[in-house]
Amino acid sequence: MKSWLRDFKDRLYPIWAFGRFIIRSRNKHGVHSPFVYDLLTQVLSDTSKYSDYVLLDQFRSTLRHDTSFIEITDFGAGSRIFKSNRRQVKQLVRHVGATPYRQKLLWRLANHFEPIKTLELGTHLGLGTAALQLGCLKGTVTSVEGCPALAKHTAHNMLTLGLEKARIIPNRFEDFLKGLEQEKFDLIYVDGNHTQEATLSYFNQLKNHCHQKSIMIFDDIHWSAEMSQAWALMQKDPSVTVSIDLFFWGLIFFRPGQVKEHFVLRV
Ligand SMILES: C[S@@+](CC[C@H](N)C(=O)[O-])C[C@H]1O[C@@H](n2cnc3c(N)ncnc32)[C@H](O)[C@@H]1O
Repeated sequence: MKSWLRDFKDRLYPIWAFGRFIIRSRNKHGVHSPFVYDLLTQVLSDTSKYSDYVLLDQFRSTLRHDTSFIEITDFGAGSRIFKSNRRQVKQLVRHVGATPYRQKLLWRLANHFEPIKTLELGTHLGLGTAALQLGCLKGTVTSVEGCPALAKHTAHNMLTLGLEKARIIPNRFEDFLKGLEQEKFDLIYVDGNHTQEATLSYFNQLKNHCHQKSIMIFDDIHWSAEMSQAWALMQKDPSVTVSIDLFFWGLIFFRPGQVKEHFVLRV
């Protein structure tokens, strides 16, 4: 297929996938699992205004006014926005990283599940890292970023925010995962390198670092046809009991005693 046609199809894919999601998705009335119903009503759809949201908005605003430049080392599936590698922080924050909505959702998930050990693959400017750490101050967040300049910039920002327990590791995901020993994580957020092969490889390695109550969050599961395929394969994994498709994220649980069930939910 001609490359411009393939590119055009790739750009249209998320729109097509969203249409399919709207047809398949349900709201709380169609959910019979008590665990998923509680998660949906108490966390995912919680519209309360928590005071930490102000801190998250202030952090974003600081980044939006940050005129410094960062030399980006590109990883993974690449950017559909930027062509040059020298980028200004205030521009980066407009196009990449957790949206305010997703940041708040991360905060609520961390606040609800109270993870003592959180792992994030893909730090970028730390919007997700800050949300995960603020959501559960008693836990630690380890966030891995392959671009050294981004890792340095964000590590500094975490200290400025007083989030000393958020550790930014400048490393490739692949090398970091190879070096992991027996440790288990309570919450894992995978937000980088959105290719089918990489996503499945991270999932297959990381499920060995989960326990029965761990939660895994995969970002942009319908960014491309191959990401949707990766998501479909993860749901089918025998170790997964509950999987939830929120369109922009896929949530995975390994809870025993749950009937294996897949949910497509509108929040
Ligand atoms: C979408 S951004 C992460 C956004 C961030 N989680 C947030 O909530 O704002 C993805 C990041 O992952 C990094 N990345 C992608 N593939 C990687 C890899 N294989 N190893 C290390 N870092 C990688 C990129 O450099 C980029 O900064």
